[in-house]
Amino acid sequence: MTGIALFGCGRIGRLHAANLARTPGVTLVCVYDVMQGAANALATELGTSVAPSIEAALNDERVDAVLIATSTDTHTDLILQSVAAGKYVLCEKPVDLELQRAIACRDRLGTQASRVMMGFNRRFDPSFEAVRRRLEAGEIGRLEQVIITSRDPSPPPPAYIRVSGGLFRDMTIHDFDMSRFIAGNIVDVSATGGCLVDPEIGALGDIDSAMITMKSATGALVHINNSRRAVYGYDQRLEVFGSDGLLLAKNRHETTVEASGTGFTGRADPAAPFFLERYSEAYRAEIARFVTCIRDETPFPVTLDDGIAALRLAQAAQESLASSKTVTIDDRA
Ligand SMILES: NC(=O)c1ccc[n+]([C@@H]2O[C@H](COP(=O)([O-])OP(=O)(O)OC[C@H]3O[C@@H](n4cnc5c(N)ncnc54)[C@H](O)[C@@H]3O)[C@@H](O)[C@H]2O)c1
Repeated sequence: MTGIALFGCGRIGRLHAANLARTPGVTLVCVYDVMQGAANALATELGTSVAPSIEAALNDERVDAVLIATSTDTHTDLILQSVAAGKYVLCEKPVDLELQRAIACRDRLGTQASRVMMGFNRRFDPSFEAVRRRLEAGEIGRLEQVIITSRDPSPPPPAYIRVSGGLFRDMTIHDFDMSRFIAGNIVDVSATGGCLVDPEIGALGDIDSAMITMKSATGALVHINNSRRAVYGYDQRLEVFGSDGLLLAKNRHETTVEASGTGFTGRADPAAPFFLERYSEAYRAEIARFVTCIRDETPFPVTLDDGIAALRLAQAAQESLASSKTVTIDDRA
């Protein structure tokens, strides 16, 4: 049995806790949140206990690993504390809002950084995983272009935007990781963006719409498009184009039903409402893989370095947006 402590009982923490509770070979030893009410409610729902503090959870011998689902600005401190206590860590994205803090965290961990897995759940989506596997098997020849469409159903409230770190670090971070998952290392980034959806987001100094073009080390071209609003649901598509063909992962719908009528043929139901539904299988697979790697003592498939690389691309996109220039990636740090 792998004993796990969950830190953070908010939106994503509750989802992870439910998955942990039903993963074979896992015991959810305890949960902790600075908002005690949130921790109590979750513990009662899942029949586990509330740790009195982070330290108490980390001193608990039954805890082999920690899942960090707290607010982003707490991630690096909790990673350092957890690894120092000898625990494995699955940490939600992004590593931090500041690239330098993320790099400092990795440098302090040294070889112990291998105890940390980053929560880029989209890598575990069965369709995206299949696209990568089939690309690697040579099915579409040499990779030439990647197009990632990633649009939220509706913008988050201003209070969320204020602490989010901006569109690139909060939302596009998943797409930067997906770019690397499919195309490998990225060497340059060019971004443009604007506030086309909600003027309040602009008033807070952020953007709600973006287009990013990048080049990979192999010369493949990558395009990401983001919007904080898509009236037809959560829009998550991946198009991978090569010398011998195309791999295309479309949106997921609740059913496969299509309707035909006068002047209309198409889907009868909209795309999955949001990430909790669209990536439900991916979140489960992510946890299962984390636990399997701990049990079998094999390396984690998504590392702290992957988290840093995605954050570096987010920072480069921010620089490109401000300067209207292409930014070259220097990943020596
Ligand atoms: N992978 C994904 O698809 C995905 C989706 C949503 C959020 N996230 C990430 O997960 C993290 C949490 O996001 P959320 O939407 O669940 O936020 P949330 O605000 O709903 O929940 C965060 C929780 O952490 C608690 N918390 C804050 N500081 C703490 C600390 N020091 N110790 C213990 N608890 C603390 C808060 O009280 C809150 O209950 C963020 O980093 C976010 O970027 C990832």
